[in-house]
Amino acid sequence: MCGIVGYIGDKPAESVLLVGLERLKYRGYDSAGVAIIDDGDIIIRKSAGKLRVLDEILKENPVNGTIGIGHTRWATHGGPSTVNAHPHNDCKNKFAIVHNGIIENYALLKERLIQNSHIFKSETDTEVIVHLIEENYNGNFLESVVKTVSQLDGSFALAIISEYHPSSMVAVRKGSPLIVGKGDGENFIASDIPALVNLTKRIYYLDDKEIAVITRDDIQFYDFSGKEIKKEEKNISITDKLVDKSEYEHYMLKEIMEQPDIVASIIRERISGEEILFNKLNFDNNYLVKIGRIIIQAAGTSWHAGLLGKFFIEGFARIHTEVDISSEFRYRNPVIEGDTLVVAISQSGETADTIAGLREAKSKFIKVLGICNNMASTIARESDAVIDIMAGPEIGVASTKAYIAQVVSLFLFSLYMGKIKWALQPEDINMYINELKKIPEKIKEIVDKKDEIERLAEQYYNRNNFIFLGRSYNYPTAFEGALKLKEISYIHSTGYQAGEFKHGPIALIDENVPVVCIATQGEIYNKMVSNIQEVKSRDGNIIVIATEGDKQIQKFSDKVIYVPNTIDILSPILNVVPLQLLSYYIALKRGCDVDQPRNLAKSVTVE
Ligand code: M6R
Repeated sequence: MCGIVGYIGDKPAESVLLVGLERLKYRGYDSAGVAIIDDGDIIIRKSAGKLRVLDEILKENPVNGTIGIGHTRWATHGGPSTVNAHPHNDCKNKFAIVHNGIIENYALLKERLIQNSHIFKSETDTEVIVHLIEENYNGNFLESVVKTVSQLDGSFALAIISEYHPSSMVAVRKGSPLIVGKGDGENFIASDIPALVNLTKRIYYLDDKEIAVITRDDIQFYDFSGKEIKKEEKNISITDKLVDKSEYEHYMLKEIMEQPDIVASIIRERISGEEILFNKLNFDNNYLVKIGRIIIQAAGTSWHAGLLGKFFIEGFARIHTEVDISSEFRYRNPVIEGDTLVVAISQSGETADTIAGLREAKSKFIKVLGICNNMASTIARESDAVIDIMAGPEIGVASTKAYIAQVVSLFLFSLYMGKIKWALQPEDINMYINELKKIPEKIKEIVDKKDEIERLAEQYYNRNNFIFLGRSYNYPTAFEGALKLKEISYIHSTGYQAGEFKHGPIALIDENVPVVCIATQGEIYNKMVSNIQEVKSRDGNIIVIATEGDKQIQKFSDKVIYVPNTIDILSPILNVVPLQLLSYYIALKRGCDVDQPRNLAKSVTVE
């Protein structure tokens, strides 16, 4: 939520910052801005609206200079307006700052600063930081920042420049992610790695409560007391192929289409012969065998993956498993005993609610397993052990390939636990592995039918409400289908457990509400058919996801999307794919910005 970039070197800062912001716009896109030191003066250009508005402003009014900071915003304090866009400056325009995070004590600080005659221009929490730096400045840039951060409560990643120090910039991290890139005669700051693709491969991850003072040729690191520290340089291997849209119109479609390859590569990485490999897992089997209870906590789509995780873990390893929404888990003072493992699932690894849940568990001396797509993220680094879901960078705000990678990773981890706990026979494990190996080809068959789903979208895109129904392994699929649709098309949609539907929500049914029913072959197929008939007899308009060859389902449905057959427990991996495509095409036909839906950001780093 909010993307930060910084540049110092010999190239025009404006163009480097715009490239970086373009790569980070998934983190927020309601306004954007840059501050560049041009001939000794800080020049700020910023605007409400998407990055292209800033781009236009800079084309008309370019800024020279080779040091600058930039920001793409997802509003928290103060609406998405030009005045609230970052960067913010102090009363005398001697400092400029960009910020990702939230300053919790900003109201008190602002009141005091106003009493001390500081003049505020915006409604943001961020602006207090730059006025504090102004107040604390004694000729030493670093010291003024050290003093300022000691006065702030909350989470913040900051990049700061100053007219007093036109040859250096300062980066600060507490809570919100920030990295420093090392170049040759140039250096960079960024919220996330994609901003640095093609610029450098050498990076430093700032840890919590660390500061970097960056010049063209040097990077020095300090802790929050101002003491110098050493940090290890890391090499990143991300290529622009992974962060570009290739031939696709949107990242979301590209990421949906990548799913067969991602599942295939997870299988390649995690299965060797009949063995499931979690050899880099930082837990030994003596610990794993003693786990008596698992609590999964996550948000949004990752929570839906967690709901499936419960089926897998309880089914394969017979370990009692609960699934909590992170923002609830964190505040309900959960009862957790010593043999409990907390699992934090997060694509980004930076979701504030899930981080808070992780810290809640650790404060009770409970071990945490992170399941992440970003091994450099806060969750990956603070967890006691991590499973890398290996989906590659996901840029579309609507999570697709990361969901499938989370589900496949949970499936394999649960089989692994089932083996360790002696809850599964080797022949059962082999059967599940063999079925999983067929999944990539089956996903491919579904994505290859995307034109058929596009035609379906044509018939339904102008509806105002949608309902998604599923049972057993596929009620999380119904939840996920509904979330995908509402977040990118702004159509009201809700997922229900189909058996629960008759206990109230069925009152919603009339001929205008499409009801998407997941009714692939499996143990509860007949129950699901009964639920569909309940809806049909009340004039519901029914779209069914069914198993290829199921002709009888056509009697109860207005439309059928067929998916290949698989075992019941793996069906959610296939069934979600047509729902992703349906949402994508419906949103497209409604003219929505699929990759950057309104009001959202890819990574929600505020509570
Ligand atoms: O990065 P995380 O997996 O922790 O993100 C959690 C949710 O914010 C995320 O899944 C969100 O619901 C997506 N926009 C869903 O498509």
